[in-house]
Parts: sequence; C-alpha cells; structure tokens
Amino acid sequence: MTDLISIARALVAPGKGLLAADESTHTAIKRLASYGIETGEEMRRQYRDLFLGTPGIEDYLSGVILYEETLAQKGDDKKLFPRSLLDRGIEPGIKVDQGTEPFPESPAELITGGLIGLPERLAAYAKTGTTFTKWRAVIMIDGDTLPSAKAIHENARRLASYAKEVQSAGMVPILEPEVLLEGKHSRTRAKEVLIETLSTLFSVLDEHAVDRSGVILKTAMALTGAASAKKDTPEEVAESTIEALMEAVPRQVPGIVFLSGGQSPEEATENLAAITKRAKEKQAPWPLTFSYARALQEEALAVWKGKAENVPVARAAFMERLKKVSAASRG
Ligand code: 13P
Repeated sequence: MTDLISIARALVAPGKGLLAADESTHTAIKRLASYGIETGEEMRRQYRDLFLGTPGIEDYLSGVILYEETLAQKGDDKKLFPRSLLDRGIEPGIKVDQGTEPFPESPAELITGGLIGLPERLAAYAKTGTTFTKWRAVIMIDGDTLPSAKAIHENARRLASYAKEVQSAGMVPILEPEVLLEGKHSRTRAKEVLIETLSTLFSVLDEHAVDRSGVILKTAMALTGAASAKKDTPEEVAESTIEALMEAVPRQVPGIVFLSGGQSPEEATENLAAITKRAKEKQAPWPLTFSYARALQEEALAVWKGKAENVPVARAAFMERLKKVSAASRG
C-alpha cells in the first residue's frame, strides 16, 4: 500500500492541482440546469467525461475528486473513470460526506453527516482504486453572531472522526471546512473566522490522534463577503489568507488546496497567483494549489450546452483555464 505521505505529496506536486468533480447528483442536476442542460444518469456521465476525458489533463491535474455515481461509470475510452485516471497518473479521490443538515443546537447553521457506515463504504471505494477522500463542512458567517463556537467544534469533531477512519483505510483525507463567501462581512472578519475554524480543527485532530502529515487541508481564501460592495485586490486576499494560514495551520501538514467558492474563474486564478507569491515571500512551509470545481468548469459548461458537437471547443476552454490556474499555483 502506498503510504499516506507519498499520496499527499503527489496531490500537491509542483504546477499541479485538483479538479473537484464531486458535485452530488442533486447539485449536478441544478448546476447543469443553469446552463440549460437537462440531466439523467447518461448526461451526467457525459458531463464527467467532458472534463475527465480531455487529452492532456495529466499535465495539470494531480487528482480528481469524484462522486459515488461516477465511480461505477465509464468514460468514452471504455474504462471505469477511476481506472482511466490512474492509467494517466492522476489520483482518483472520492467525496465521502453525505451533505449537510441543520445543526440542532444552532439551527441556522449546518452540520455535515456521513459517519454512519463510513468504514464499510471506504473499503468499497478503495477497491475501485481511490487513494484519497474529501469531507466538506460548511461554516457560515453572519456579522459577529455566526459562526457559533459549538458549530465550529462539532464540525471539527466530525472531520477528525472522518480523517481517522480514512487514514486507517490507507487513504489521505482532504479536510474541507469551507468558510462561505456569502454575506456582508469584511475580509478581516473572514480572516478571523478562518483562524478560529482552522485552529479548532487542528486541535481536535490532535485529540483524535490524526496524523497531521497524512492529511490535506482544503480551505477558502480570506475574502470580503459576496454581498458587500467592497472588492478585494488579489494582494489583499493574499496577505489576509497567508496570515490566517501561518497562524492556524501546523507546518507538518503536507499541503493546502483552495476551493473557488463562487469566485469567477479569473478571480480564483488571480487570487491564487497572489497567494502563492505571498507564500514564497513569507516562506510558508506548505505547497499551495487549487482544488476548484466551479472556477475550472464554468467556462467549458457555458460553451458545451450538453451537445456532442461542442465537446472540442468546451475542452479547449477547460484546458485554457487549467493552464492559467496551474501557472498561478507556481506563483
Ligand atoms: P468550488 O471550487 O466550486 O468552491 O468547489 C470546490 C469544492 O470541492 C466544494 O466542496
């Protein structure tokens, strides 16, 4: 069995990053409908194949996070998607959380489920060739009132239980406590919440004896809320994000990847470039790269429209964005 550190290092190899292609069926249906594409299982297979079947992605992608339905589907190359990725040197990963629900102790906030039956599911996923996993928790900011300390702590506790199980199954857990962009908050407030969320997470991971050197952190950038009139410059985002990470993330963590969180493809690219540049200046100890869903797929979906004849131009748009994001990850 490949050891956790080697998998984690492969995921953050220089110039490479992750494609998050793990939209749940519900989210995939909604996302594709917003481009006028109606979906059943076959259309979702074509949607995945549009990206995973693009020639040359292995130059820019170290890994792809898949959704359960995709594990059992085949690309146009007639190979199961995880096999097809492995054959091209791309690590296949799997989203293992089962989505969010209201947190009973603070019903305006969300808690992530999926721990029941997790060991059995992990054993089944590993047989398909997956080498890493993802669990997403959601942290909402509302002025100075949310997030509550309780919601941060319970989400951290579940992330830690998940991480422990995944490491025991020989896979690398990606820990994604997503601090949402929605809201009117300032960038300073986002930075404060990031620090509290990540500090709590790493202290709870220690309590659960999770090996820090065998996890990948997936985080949001420190950004002013989307509903605020203020726009951050990439330099401001970079400064706040790196300050938060330096304060809250242990140096043993082998890599940090960013989600795009509703930024446009261009914003997500420019902000990543500024962050990796700042990280070098500050001698940040971890490799930093992307793990985007929307920012990597948006432009391609807009031209694909679910039609076979548009596949070449959609794939060209995807490759163009991938090259730019890969360049940004090099700083
Ligand atoms: P976005 O890049 O669209 O935020 O998605 C990343 C992700 O994996 C969310 O769970």
